[in-house]
Amino acid sequence: MELIDPFGRTVRDLRISITDRCNFRCTYCMPAEGMKWLPRTEVLSYEELHRLASICVNHFDVDGIRLTGGEPTMRAHLPVLVQKLAGLIVPATANSPRAGKPIDLAITTNGATLRLIAQELREAGLERINISIDTLKRERFYEMTRRDELEHVLDGIDAAIAAGFSPVKLNAVVQRGINEDEIVDLATFGRNKGIEVRFIEFMPLDAQGTWENNQVVGQDEIVAAIAAVYPLELMPARGAAPADRWRYLDGKGTVGVIPSVTKPFCGDCDRVRLTADGQFRTCLFSTNEFDLRAMLREGASDDAIAAEIKRAVGTKWAGHNIGNVTFVRPRRSMSQIGG
Ligand code: 5AD
Ligand code: SF4
Repeated sequence: MELIDPFGRTVRDLRISITDRCNFRCTYCMPAEGMKWLPRTEVLSYEELHRLASICVNHFDVDGIRLTGGEPTMRAHLPVLVQKLAGLIVPATANSPRAGKPIDLAITTNGATLRLIAQELREAGLERINISIDTLKRERFYEMTRRDELEHVLDGIDAAIAAGFSPVKLNAVVQRGINEDEIVDLATFGRNKGIEVRFIEFMPLDAQGTWENNQVVGQDEIVAAIAAVYPLELMPARGAAPADRWRYLDGKGTVGVIPSVTKPFCGDCDRVRLTADGQFRTCLFSTNEFDLRAMLREGASDDAIAAEIKRAVGTKWAGHNIGNVTFVRPRRSMSQIGG
């Protein structure tokens, strides 16, 4: 059965934050010190994660799952979870190109330890990987993430390519006055590696609440900067995927921009989210959550949990309103919700 929200959008994609912990402290995401981590007992176990994912796939024809964090590779034995989830099969009756096939399983990572586990993750059944990299300059990388890990991330990108993930994509958050001067360099890097870079507009989800509209570098400006060096052609509409994509006219691949702030794509949103502590959310910017962990631990049946998921999706709103006076920041920041 499809899960359709009050605005007629079908839910197809589940984003699971598997930990709130991270080995970086990106300035736009976390404070330098003093993040309070969830106690272990509050974090869902792999069995619990698998059960909820399985309900979403089997009851609601969800055909894609993305693992996020915090930093998902901080979880011990991650390949074990990947293997469990990669075994989920989209029902044969689903209205999905993947009907009867395994779900589309992906991960978003900062890449710091990827060189150590890329191959193992691939062998466990992970198909797609997004690696975050906002700068190619060592000093600046340190300033932005508060960790001197650029070399390891670069090695992680190469390890992901070597392991055969398809595709590997790079995510770059652009902030005015911080790394906007590297838009073209990052695009060049992606072209040379043969992988897509997706530039992300800076969103008001930083832990410190210092986001300001003038720090956002919008899609039009990003595309103009790239097109001035590498002529581009817009590709056909994106469907539910958040990135608008362009093809390099010289044939050297594609580039994407996720215009969360200047051109919200809420109208096509097919996503729901689960936090590391088992709270179900229908939007990154939701101000309410549904406590599936309590249900799991009180012994609720699959049907009862499915009914609660359906009730939650019944509250999904039309869009996020960033920039409007009515916008309310969610209580949690990005690392606590999952990107
Ligand atoms: N705005 C935009 N993107 C963000 N990310 C983290 N915080 C923000 C923010 N405030 C990105 C990370 C990563 C993904 C999980 O989300 O850089 O690519
Ligand atoms: Fe960690 Fe990602 Fe947040 Fe950076 S943006 S601190 S890598 S969770």
